[in-house]
Order: sequence, then structure tokens, then C-alpha cells
Amino acid sequence: MRLRARCRAAAVLAACAGAAAALVAGCSPGLPEPDSPGAQVLAVRCAGCHRTYAPQTMTIAMWEYQLERMRALYAQQGLPWLAPAEERTLREYLARHAGGR
Ligand code: HEC
Repeated sequence: MRLRARCRAAAVLAACAGAAAALVAGCSPGLPEPDSPGAQVLAVRCAGCHRTYAPQTMTIAMWEYQLERMRALYAQQGLPWLAPAEERTLREYLARHAGGR
């Protein structure tokens, strides 16, 4: 009886761990084309302060807006903004994979 209760608790725990893992995976979907230059810019230049937002989580219009906000934030924090080539690569990557189309 006791043993069975413990087993059930273990089963519940295992189920919860699985759900938590699924939740985490759902919150940060992997980047598409992870080896592409655009994904690299996003992963390297945009992940210092918060998690990396996957391109498919926003429309391209929202991305344009967020990029301008981040540009202002970089300036405010005295951080160097992306080099022109980096920014172009990132914008092309975001446009290719943005959601809501
Ligand atoms: C200096 C730290 C810093 C860096 C570097 C940074 N961000 Fe941010 N970002 C923030 C902060 C702080 C917020 C939340 C406050 C806000 O929304 O103004 C934010 C918010 C965002 C949001 C909005 C998230 C939401 O749910 O509303 C997006 C999208 C985003 N950042 C994308 C980027 C991208 C793309 C880059 C790279 C070009 C980047 N960030 C680099 C600090 C940073």
C-alpha cells in the first residue's frame, strides 16, 4: 500500500517534469536555419539581455518596430548597434521566417 502510494507520487512527478519540459520548449522554439548568418546575429548580438525571440513569434511589422526600439535601447545604454551588414542579414532572416503571413 505504502509502496504503491510512493509509486504514484513518482509517476505524478515524472508527468510534471515532462509537462514542464514541454512548456519550456514551447516558450522558446528553436531558431530556424540555426547555422545561417541571420540566426547567428540574433543568437550572438540579441541574447545578452533576454532570451532569444524566435522569428516566427512575430510578424515582420512587429519585428521592424521591435528593432527600432532595440536600436534606441542600445543607444541609451551606450552599446554599439549592429553593423550595417549584420543588420541587413538579420532583417532578411527575420523577414524570411516571420510569422503571421
Ligand atoms: C541592452 C540589453 C538588450 C539587448 C542587447 C537586446 N535587447 Fe531586446 N529588450 C531589452 C529589454 C530591457 C526589453 C524589455 C523592455 C522593452 O520592451 O522595452 C527588450 C525587449 C525586446 C523585445 C520585445 C519582447 C516582448 O515580448 O515585448 C524584442 C522582440 C526584443 N527585445 C528583440 C531584441 C533583438 C532582436 C535584439 C538584437 C538586435 C535585442 N532585443 C537586444 C534589452 C535588450
